[in-house]
Amino acid sequence: MIAEFEDWGASAPAGVGARFLPECDSTNAVASKLGQSGEAGPLWIVAGRQSAGRGRRGKIWKSEDGNLYASLLFKPAIEPSDMTAIPFLVALAVRDTFLRFGADDVRCKWPNDVLIGGCKASGVLIESSARNAKELDYVIIGIGMNLMHFPDDAQFQATSLKAVTGNVIDVRNAFQALSHHLFDRLTNWKTSEITPVAEEWTNSAWGLGHRCVLRTATDTFEGTPLRLAADGGLVVGLDNGEERSLYAGDIFPVSGME
Ligand code: BTN
Repeated sequence: MIAEFEDWGASAPAGVGARFLPECDSTNAVASKLGQSGEAGPLWIVAGRQSAGRGRRGKIWKSEDGNLYASLLFKPAIEPSDMTAIPFLVALAVRDTFLRFGADDVRCKWPNDVLIGGCKASGVLIESSARNAKELDYVIIGIGMNLMHFPDDAQFQATSLKAVTGNVIDVRNAFQALSHHLFDRLTNWKTSEITPVAEEWTNSAWGLGHRCVLRTATDTFEGTPLRLAADGGLVVGLDNGEERSLYAGDIFPVSGME
């Protein structure tokens, strides 16, 4: 059902498929059609560019040639409620990849962005379909990594690996590194445990302990992100001394914050 693709399986870990499309609407959309047609993966869909790249919260992910756009379709043998650690595992695998290609000061920003030098260099969109409360049909982990380009009109200041390090990394090399880092992290993950993942994510997190602006679907407020809760929520300290857990949204610096 996918028109023209190049087999990139040799660049993915053993047992994991990979198809490269020069162009598609969205690698998440392609993976999701495959998932709906019964493909269980594990299978990566990688695109040279996307005409309708999807960001979180309904945003567009600008997708010109030179950056990495990749989605992993798979069916983990876990219950939907055990997916809590996955966004943080993915951010750590993206971080591993940027570090490997020469970036330093690579930090994870809740929920699953990755920053280089305080600017956004990667975004992750995770989508899933569950048959029922106990069984997943499939999970799609969609990752965009700014290797060459970055948008200059993003809400959160953006950058690229090239802008920060001067290093030009070929998309296929980046995919090879990312797919192996994510594979290692997913295979070493004990599904019932978020604590080790949360600890590692926290050690490289941006914004914890600093006053920030927090934006959810329903409101915007200031507070201090404190820690990840065991259920994956971000615990934020409020001005009235109370704590509030967030499960979706975005964090921004208050002006003057480094
Ligand atoms: C975000 O808003 O930060 C998430 C962006 C996710 C973009 C990636 S690019 C590959 C995959 N395909 C998509 O359409 N979106 C994700």
